[in-house]
This record gives sequence, structure tokens and C-alpha cells, in this order.
Amino acid sequence: MDWGAIDRYAKSLIKEAGHRIRVSFAGKIQIETKADANDLVTDIDRDIEQFFISRIRRDFPGHRILGEEGFGDDVRSGEGVVWILDPIDGTMNFIHQQRNFAISLGIYADGIGMLGYIYDVMADDFYHAYRGEGAYRNDERLPMLAPVPVEKAIIGVNASWVTPNRYIEHEAIGQLVSDCRGTRSYGSAAIELAHVAAGRLDAYLSMRLAPWDVAGGSVIISEVGAVASNLRGEELDMISKDTFIAARPGLHQTVLDQYIRLKRT
Ligand code: IPD
Ligand code: CA
Ligand code: CA
Ligand code: CA
Repeated sequence: MDWGAIDRYAKSLIKEAGHRIRVSFAGKIQIETKADANDLVTDIDRDIEQFFISRIRRDFPGHRILGEEGFGDDVRSGEGVVWILDPIDGTMNFIHQQRNFAISLGIYADGIGMLGYIYDVMADDFYHAYRGEGAYRNDERLPMLAPVPVEKAIIGVNASWVTPNRYIEHEAIGQLVSDCRGTRSYGSAAIELAHVAAGRLDAYLSMRLAPWDVAGGSVIISEVGAVASNLRGEELDMISKDTFIAARPGLHQTVLDQYIRLKRT
């Protein structure tokens, strides 16, 4: 497999998709809801996913595609090469803010993340990583991350996980919120992972994310020494939705051991 060629291809596809998204603001965007009134999707999310899929199917017919909007393949195993795509991560931000959303793409071979991309479209910040070759922001190599203690850490967490919910004991995570230096929530898992990779967030956690939210980011963060897993500390399978944490080395285990109490669901 010529991963260098796939890398160059994926980068130019993502840049082209980013351009399409920016142009879309000139027209009227159709907004619909999915599972509930706050689960938003637009015609642009769908168009961008279809744009990727038509190109990938044409140029890499043996590869499979797992995409959020469902135009790809019914992927139930990691066999072969799988492109895991979120055409717009942060759709709510896309609609309400016209910024703070990203294209997220991970390319996996037999379940192993080979290439990862996060493109913060409006900031024009492009993060990428090639397994074993380091992670980059706009072609500048990101340094390896050093450990930090909880009291000096900025944690990315959505405020809803600190209120009663069905996944986690909210008092324990509330303790993390009070023990750490500060918290942030950006509304795009991919952008939050880019912040972890660049050392701007020390950890990011969520009670429910899908493979397309984290596939690109997981490749990127592991190249700078950050650790990702579900909240039981297990490796992610990139097939099912799961809980999620990504953090600097050391902090990952501390958060899991001291602040995470999962409920049985
Ligand atoms: C969402 C964003 C958000 C996260 C949600 C995701 P979407 O993705 O990443 O930050 O909290 O769980 O579903 O739907 O905007 O692609
Ligand atoms: Ca969505
Ligand atoms: Ca997403
Ligand atoms: Ca999405």
C-alpha cells in the first residue's frame, strides 16, 4: 500500500471539501433534525459526505467508508482499509456560529490507524498525522506532550456531563472540574482532539462519541504521546459508539482511577 500517495490524496480531498463548505455559506443552508430537536444536520453535511464517497469509490474501489450521514458502507469490522469520516464535526457550531467545526478523517488498515486528519475549516488549521511519522499542524511538527498534574490541567468537558446523566456519576466528574485548573468546551470533538494534540487542552472526555468523531484525532494525538481509550480504559474499536477520553500521558490514568465512576447502562 502506498500510504504516502493516499496521504497526499486525502489532504487535497479535504482541502477541496473545506472550500466547498466555505462557499456554501453564500447560499441558503437546509437544516433538519435527526434523533432529537438538538441533533442537527444540514444539506451541506450530506453533500460533503457524498463528495468524499464518490471520489474515494472512484479512486480506491477496494476501500470501505464509514461516514456519519450513512452514505458509506455498512462497516461492522475493521478488515481492510476503512476511511472513517465526519464531513462536518460540530454541526451545531456550523449552523449557529459559522465557525468551530471541522472535517475529521481517519484511515485505518485492519483496525490500525494509519493516517489522521482534522481540518478546522474556518481557521484554516490543518492537523495531520501519519502513523510513526509524527503529528503536524499546518506542516509544522507538534512536540511530544509532557505529563501535567490535575491541578495544572485544562480539561475539555461538556457541562452536561457534570449534571445527572445515565452514563457516569456526576459528583465524581464534578470533583475533577473543581480540582483541575479550568475547563473548556468547544462543541466539536475533532477540534477538542486537535487542542489535545497541540497541548492547549490536557484532556478531553465525553460520555458518548462515534468512531467518526475520534478516528482522525486518535491517530494525531497518539503521535504526540497522548493516550485515548474509553472510560473503562479499553482501546476503542472504531466500530461502535462509546465513552471517550484522550489525555496527556499520566493524566489519562489519573482521571480514570480517581474521577470516573461509570454507571451500568
Ligand atoms: C458532535 C460534536 C460534539 C459532541 C457530539 C458529537 P456532530 O458531532 O463532536 O462536540 O459533543 O457528541 O456528536 O454531530 O456535530 O458531527
Ligand atoms: Ca451529527
Ligand atoms: Ca461528529
Ligand atoms: Ca458530523
